Amino acid sequence: MTSESRLDRAARSESIVFTVNGRPCAVDVHPDTPLLYVLRNDLKLKGTRFGCASGLCGACTVHVDGRAVTSCDLPMWSVAGHTVTTIEGLAGEGGLHPLQQAFVDEGAGQCGYCLSGILMSAAALLADTPSPSLDEITAALERNVCRCGVHARVIRAIRAAGGKHP
Ligand code: FES
Ligand code: FES
Repeated sequence: MTSESRLDRAARSESIVFTVNGRPCAVDVHPDTPLLYVLRNDLKLKGTRFGCASGLCGACTVHVDGRAVTSCDLPMWSVAGHTVTTIEGLAGEGGLHPLQQAFVDEGAGQCGYCLSGILMSAAALLADTPSPSLDEITAALERNVCRCGVHARVIRAIRAAGGKHP
């Protein structure tokens, strides 16, 4: 990117107001800036991971109005006025989200890079479908890649959190 285009982008920045993890938030950014960049760079919420930056790996998954979406390909203009939840907002005041506890109990993780995205996809699934079938879990995680291959433990943890052991 040339310095001219950086200046141009800066000149076109707008104040975008949205809610993150229950708190109102305003950022001055170019409206096409991906939500992921704002979360990590502006708001320092580093739990949402940068993977492919192309909407393909699911590492950057967050909730927007309760729906699991990839944030690397979501422009800030589309987030204005909406509610975003990141992995930092998943746990309640009472402690870990039941999914997080189930992942700990099942040892569902290796390097951990994919886990915040997987947890956010799984949390959206359980909010809609408290006891999902294997097919429903597989469909919900379709866009979440885990290069360490911990899928079996991830599925066990999700079924445990949903009150369903295999
Ligand atoms: S970083 Fe967003 S889908 Fe890969
Ligand atoms: S635990 Fe390493 S990528 Fe999933």
